Amino acid sequence: MLVLGIESSCDETGVALVRAEAGRVAPRLLAHALHSQIDMHQAYGGVVPELASRDHIRRVLPLTRQVLAEAGCRLDDIDTIAYTRGPGLAGALLVGAGLACALGMALDRPVVGVHHLEGHLLSPFLSADPPEFPFVALLVSGGHTQLMRVDDVGCYALLGETIDDAAGEAFDKSAKLLGLGYPGGPALARLAEFGDPDVFELPRPLLHSGNLDFSFAGLKTAVWTQVRKLGPSMSDPDRANLAASTQAAIVDVLVHKSLAALRQTGLRRLVVAGGVGANRRLRERLNAQAQRRGWRVHYPELHLCTDNGAMIALAAAMRLQREPERARRDYAFDVAPRWDLASA
Ligand code: KG4
Ligand code: ZN
Repeated sequence: MLVLGIESSCDETGVALVRAEAGRVAPRLLAHALHSQIDMHQAYGGVVPELASRDHIRRVLPLTRQVLAEAGCRLDDIDTIAYTRGPGLAGALLVGAGLACALGMALDRPVVGVHHLEGHLLSPFLSADPPEFPFVALLVSGGHTQLMRVDDVGCYALLGETIDDAAGEAFDKSAKLLGLGYPGGPALARLAEFGDPDVFELPRPLLHSGNLDFSFAGLKTAVWTQVRKLGPSMSDPDRANLAASTQAAIVDVLVHKSLAALRQTGLRRLVVAGGVGANRRLRERLNAQAQRRGWRVHYPELHLCTDNGAMIALAAAMRLQREPERARRDYAFDVAPRWDLASA
């Protein structure tokens, strides 16, 4: 089964082709192409939804042609078309849904809407070291911070989530306060490499709350207070130290809660997915802690940590192997800007 996947939920247009084969747990990635809108949104300090939708329209067909050419396939070879149904920006989602339905109708093929976070959490199945079920998943992106218990494809139970900002949002907002632009996560992480994480004492919200929920809004306020204290003439070492201290606070909470989730569920495997999963300190800390306890941590390939079409094609293929009836032929532009993974 050849599946085309289209991702357009936020500021990245991603298209990919995977082939699912009988007897293999995960499909094979044949080709994927991505266009990031970061440069376009940078001038505004964040994603402008209307501009995002229009840019998806411009990019999605050339990217589709590109992956078909790279995979040596024709449109007619595609068996199923998958798109991100939600959560995300409504107008942006409609672009992917619109193309998927148009292609489906023209080619007489079924379409399937995929939950964006399901794509992230299954993305390590495309890596050289795929996990086995069951596992705990730490989903850390710009919009979500969740711990899930994953027993199988489609069996997701929420263990805890953020009550305010997401971890990626904490990175991005702190980076903005430090004058690092948008999206600041990777820039803050780079600057943190030159700083000392022990110089500024920042809060670790909900660290000992006894549950698996997160909160990052207070941390952002603490960073803002420090930035104000240091003033406009903040030195480069101070800036690097504050970046390092911020990163350490976020990572400490994510590591602490992930270990607690593994203890609580009795599971021995952790999957880390979403953009913040690319963070080096997070990976080093989790790997070290897990190794001491004989637990395993799985990640997507680095280039598949942030949004992409491959994870959407993959999730659709894995889901359809178990539930072929999910594929639709009504070609309704069906999107869900707000959508719970547990009900996907
Ligand atoms: O999963 P993703 O691409 O998009 C969403 O679905 O939100 O995640 C994007 C988020 C942004 O907040 C970005 O700053 C953050 O992931 N991010 C990082 C790193 N790379 C991306 N945060 C910390 N360290 C990184 N290396
Ligand atoms: Zn994402």
